[in-house]
Amino acid sequence: MLTWSEQFATGSGLVDTQHRMLIDKINELEKLLSGSSPAKSVYDGLLDFLGLYVTTHFKFEEQCMERAHCPAHEKNKQAHAAFLDVFGKFKERYQKEGANPELLKNLQTVASDWIKNHILTVDIQLKSCVK
Ligand SMILES: [Fe+2]
Repeated sequence: MLTWSEQFATGSGLVDTQHRMLIDKINELEKLLSGSSPAKSVYDGLLDFLGLYVTTHFKFEEQCMERAHCPAHEKNKQAHAAFLDVFGKFKERYQKEGANPELLKNLQTVASDWIKNHILTVDIQLKSCVK
């Protein structure tokens, strides 16, 4: 389970709120996987939400970095594109294989590790650029 803490702070309240939401959703996936196997529609809903939210959040955060002339802007954009690529490949497999617990666990682990590392190495660089 991932927990948001002050070390994740980016200097933007809105970006932090969005990160908290993403962390909540990834944790929700972890909870679903450790509980009594829910209907596939529950996973469908969660994954659709996650896909849409990630896309919207990435765009918003990229605009913040660009506006603040943050030196991490390009690196951030590239990292986002790489994550969307991984997520897209996962979605393709999900469409073929359905709610395969191994596949979903893999997504949860990858997404959880990725967001933690990404916030701590890239997103927090926004802090020194915003006033
Ligand atoms: Fe980012």
